[in-house]
Amino acid sequence: MHIAAADLLSDLAGLFAGESDPVANAANAAAAIWQHVPRINWAGFYFLRQGELVLGPFQGKPACVRIRLGTGVCGTAAARRETVVVDDVHAFPGHIACDGASNSEIVIPLLRHGVLLGVLDIDSPEFGRFGAAERALFEAVARAWADALDGQGTALPSARPAA
Ligand code: SME
Repeated sequence: MHIAAADLLSDLAGLFAGESDPVANAANAAAAIWQHVPRINWAGFYFLRQGELVLGPFQGKPACVRIRLGTGVCGTAAARRETVVVDDVHAFPGHIACDGASNSEIVIPLLRHGVLLGVLDIDSPEFGRFGAAERALFEAVARAWADALDGQGTALPSARPAA
């Protein structure tokens, strides 16, 4: 594997310790992935808001803001509630090209107590960049992010009424 998986997960354990804010933790997770994982050109989060995916914290080029469930790789992973690995995005029907340099992609649903909260999306300029090891790693990142929400329920901050 070409990833310092243990380093990434231990960094995230430290960054998430005692912090349950979903946006802050997503921002640090995107930055830590960017720092530790070579040969990627985009890493970030989309959050489920009012039935569609809306761009969250990320690293890489500016990206499309809204993705409908069932469309693109992100919307497909969200609708299926399962990880989607695409070795060649150009062969994926409905792929949404945010950065023309992307050639492969992995999208992991963010699930908390079975409730879909969004997706974690990573793109690479290499074809077939994401194998079993990367899938296991990014699924662990998504789990760690969701586990850090303890005490927040399943709502993202902006979805809750003001106190
Ligand atoms: N390629 C994604 C869109 C998001 S960008 O890659 C950041 C998709 O097809 O859903």
